[in-house]
Amino acid sequence: METPRIRASPLLLPLLLLAELCVGYRPVVIVHGIFDGPKQFETLSSFITKAHPGTVVKVIDLYDYMASVKPLWRQVRGFRKAIRPIIQQAPQGVHLLCFSQGGLICRALLSKIPNHNVNTFISLSSPLAGQYGDTDYLNWIFPDTMKKIVFEFCYRCRSKVSVCDYWNDPHHRTLYLHSNRFLPVLNGETPHRHMEEWRENFLRIKKLVLIGGPDDGVITPWQSSYFGFYDSNEQVVEMKNQEFYRRDTFGLKELDARGAVSVCVQAGVKHTHWHSNHTVFVNCMEKWLT
Ligand SMILES: *[C@@H]1O[C@H](CO)[C@@H](O)[C@H](O)[C@H]1NC(C)=O
Repeated sequence: METPRIRASPLLLPLLLLAELCVGYRPVVIVHGIFDGPKQFETLSSFITKAHPGTVVKVIDLYDYMASVKPLWRQVRGFRKAIRPIIQQAPQGVHLLCFSQGGLICRALLSKIPNHNVNTFISLSSPLAGQYGDTDYLNWIFPDTMKKIVFEFCYRCRSKVSVCDYWNDPHHRTLYLHSNRFLPVLNGETPHRHMEEWRENFLRIKKLVLIGGPDDGVITPWQSSYFGFYDSNEQVVEMKNQEFYRRDTFGLKELDARGAVSVCVQAGVKHTHWHSNHTVFVNCMEKWLT
């Protein structure tokens, strides 16, 4: 009687290699914040490749340091060009990890790039609902100004610095809605003809991870890192009670209804330490970067 023999098919090897590729980690694209650049993300990149060997991590080297104060729509155009080839070469999709101001650039990218394949968008202490606080950090831009008068500079003079694109003065809401051409447009608070299309594009992500914490010291209010913001009495209104959430103007409520929004609050982290803190990486990022 003939014994059945297992023959190694010449097809087996390429199939195994293919399987290896399929279970590989998706590339991680990092967008830096204001006054920084790729160098500040070397530690985070090494956390990622140590946890998930073989991951391709790309920190986009664009609008670094002082160039990071350029108007945000201009930066979005540049980042969009830089990201296009990366997403085209990633059939399984990519993850987008964006720090501080970079989180707003990433939101704009996700809204404006049709058919993007971003799987998880991680926002690392980003002023997602705006900024109203003149911290030391921002004194580079607004020397000796008080937060009470920045709106004159941003809304009335229509200054072009990036911070004005997300300066959200709760005492001058009408001016904010009329003069700010970035954040209220992105939020769909100022209606525009691309709203539905941007919403659909944004909803292509599978997961939204919002990281922030009370000791940040720059993002004000810190709850802006997960879409909370001041009302006109400077009381923080949580994400679910924000108008853009309730009316679901850009897809946030729908994502949340899918169970796709994860908030990770970490105390004891200063703004410039978020990307070099290993505990934050383990608690809030590692499990999503597959
Ligand atoms: C790192 O993060 C943890 C919370 O995740 C925090 O308790 C600790 O203070 C942070 N350390 C630094 C140096 O930021």
